Amino acid sequence: MKNILITGGTGYIGSHTCVELIESGYNPIIIDNLSNSKRKIVDRIEKITGKKIIFEKCDISDKKNIERIIKEFNCEAVIHFAGFKAVGESQTNPLMYYKNNVSGTINLLDAMKSAGLKKIVFSSSATVYGKPKFLPLTEDHPVSPENIYGKTKLAVENILRDIFIADPDWRICILRYFNPVGAHNSGLIGDDPKGIPNNLMPFISQVAVGRRSHLNIWGNDYNTNDGTGVRDYIHVIDLAQGHIKAIEKINSLKGAVINLGTGRGYSVLEMIQSFEKASAKKIKYEFRPRRDGDIEINYADPSKAKEIFNWEAKLDINEMCKDIWRWQSMNPKGV
Ligand code: NAD
Ligand code: UD1
Repeated sequence: MKNILITGGTGYIGSHTCVELIESGYNPIIIDNLSNSKRKIVDRIEKITGKKIIFEKCDISDKKNIERIIKEFNCEAVIHFAGFKAVGESQTNPLMYYKNNVSGTINLLDAMKSAGLKKIVFSSSATVYGKPKFLPLTEDHPVSPENIYGKTKLAVENILRDIFIADPDWRICILRYFNPVGAHNSGLIGDDPKGIPNNLMPFISQVAVGRRSHLNIWGNDYNTNDGTGVRDYIHVIDLAQGHIKAIEKINSLKGAVINLGTGRGYSVLEMIQSFEKASAKKIKYEFRPRRDGDIEINYADPSKAKEIFNWEAKLDINEMCKDIWRWQSMNPKGV
């Protein structure tokens, strides 16, 4: 049984990845400071998997504690999810973002080095590409993040590359996620944002459950099939399974950068339509001006993941919407 340290393991993507890890025979050791998630998620993961989970409330800046945890549990690799992710907040509070996402990661890497552990899978984002110069987005598309959140992700990517150059014993995998949506099909874990959701699908599901009156659609004058923005939505379970592949292959990954997306885009109106079908609920919406910093279309070229991991997304938007609705209707106010 291989122990894998999971930072941010009670968060949205981390919790689903822990379930998939357990189902693939790994043993996640979760650390999280619970700044954007709840302790109760540990119970939910235990309920889904029937396994006792090791959880420690710990901040990634706590170097000594992380070093101890890595040694005590003999961790063989780290999957690093912990960080802040709200684009708007990053623009108004850059220091908070650089401190948590960049300094926090430096602390984590320092702790790993002291403990003699040099294998890491890092959660990056397609936001590092900025405005697409061509589509689909391949990993060698130029990077030019347009918001501070994206700049913190790129800063960590660069730090990881430099670490490998200085010490080729490191094994590093940088995963660039497109738009993760969906939930575990038990309905026990899912995306549970605090406050008003920034992202499309949690907003739609909160409208469906009566927590919000209607959805504002940011822009209907884009050069797309129906004028609304197009994104590459990927089911969180597919995304989680991409991490299992990264762990399986980690010994051969020397700073690899890999997109995790489906390779196809859907518009806001197409997502609404699919959600309405899955939930049998009508989603009220109003068209509003474009959101600052939004791009028109993005979607991944996922062929590198197929080639290196033999991984590709399997779940379609119908499954994404059905699973979001199951999660939201079982947890109308979140966990
Ligand atoms: P999330 O907020 O649900 O999970 C992050 C977890 O990290 C939370 O449980 C939070 O409490 C914890 N955390 C934050 N700062 C910490 C710290 N200093 N010490 C310990 N724990 C800390 O977010 P998520 O959607 O699961 O995202 C996971 C990772 O994937 C993040 O790094 C995010 O930037 C990245 N990512 C997410 C998306 C997305 O759309 N959800 C897209 C691309 C990349
Ligand atoms: C946003 C972030 C991005 C981050 C990603 C995943 C911005 C500018 N970008 O991307 O950095 O990596 O989330 O967390 O915030 N939409 C509406 N109404 C809403 C919400 C969204 O119409 O209330 C539209 C958007 O205009 C977009 C699509 O839905 O066309 C998807 O939006 P969202 O879920 O926020 O993801 P991204 O914009 O791709």
